[in-house]
Amino acid sequence: MAKQFRIRAPASSANLGPGFDCLGLGLSLYQRLEVCERPERGLEIRFSGEGAGRVPLDESNRIYQAMERIFKAAGFRPSGLLLESHNEIPLACGLGSSAAATMSGLVAGMLLCGRELDEGSLLKLGNEEEGHADNVAPCMLGGFTVISGAGEEMEYLRLDPPSRLRAVVAVPDFSLPTRQAREVLPRNVTFQDAVANQGRVALLTAALARNRLELLRSAMVDCLHQPYRSGLVPGLEEVCRAALGAGALGAALSGAGPAVLAFVDGEDCGAGAAMEEAWSRKGIKSRSLILPLDRSGLEVEFAGEKDGDETN
Ligand code: HSE
Repeated sequence: MAKQFRIRAPASSANLGPGFDCLGLGLSLYQRLEVCERPERGLEIRFSGEGAGRVPLDESNRIYQAMERIFKAAGFRPSGLLLESHNEIPLACGLGSSAAATMSGLVAGMLLCGRELDEGSLLKLGNEEEGHADNVAPCMLGGFTVISGAGEEMEYLRLDPPSRLRAVVAVPDFSLPTRQAREVLPRNVTFQDAVANQGRVALLTAALARNRLELLRSAMVDCLHQPYRSGLVPGLEEVCRAALGAGALGAALSGAGPAVLAFVDGEDCGAGAAMEEAWSRKGIKSRSLILPLDRSGLEVEFAGEKDGDETN
């Protein structure tokens, strides 16, 4: 019987200001993948949506690469696969498109070769493959995630974010590879900056856990990565200020950027328009999206088993 299923993996925003490499949040914008076994017909990848025309459609495709990692470990080789991806997540903008592709591939690989991996093992593998646990965890689990350590030392916890919280994401019309956004970070920071950030990470986590939305404004201030990245994201400070001026609860660079995420209470208070306007004053075009938070994480839907030969 040929296997057929769909995977929906959410976008994510890492850091949320001070939580560099340790905090993340699921967003309701999705990478949708349909996987269909087609014995003896080789690999075919179709891709539409964000990144279409730029994403490779051969074995170097990120989704397939993640799948292949599982296949290799299981000693499995499918004789034919059709992968149809529709991606809503802008690429290289700080919204976790790579994590969504990687986790979709790992889960698809696991289902195809019948290899069971528990949640923790999948997260560790996702982190090894993609490199950013603060995107991989919210993509897999949804909600608000706290991650510490890597490899065998990795620990994580998922919390339900406040129900009224929405994200307004402003995406400028340029992309920024994460590698480049990490190269500008300093090798050392002052004790004072480290202490200030650690207090705000604790405050932000507690504020989200206890529904204290009025604390987000000061809890989302960062001094470990945003100031160093602002040279790569022209208008970053002005866009954050514009969101706050329009009534957003807090604002920060989304992941490594260049998108900016602002939190609002229920409806958009005009933060999206204010952010777009601030960017346009810098000569940069952008689009804003108001997004409910994703609370379910990666989901699989089985389309039933299709008749086919069992050669693989
Ligand atoms: N925490 C990572 C960074 C997220 O800011 O570089 C990358 O998406």
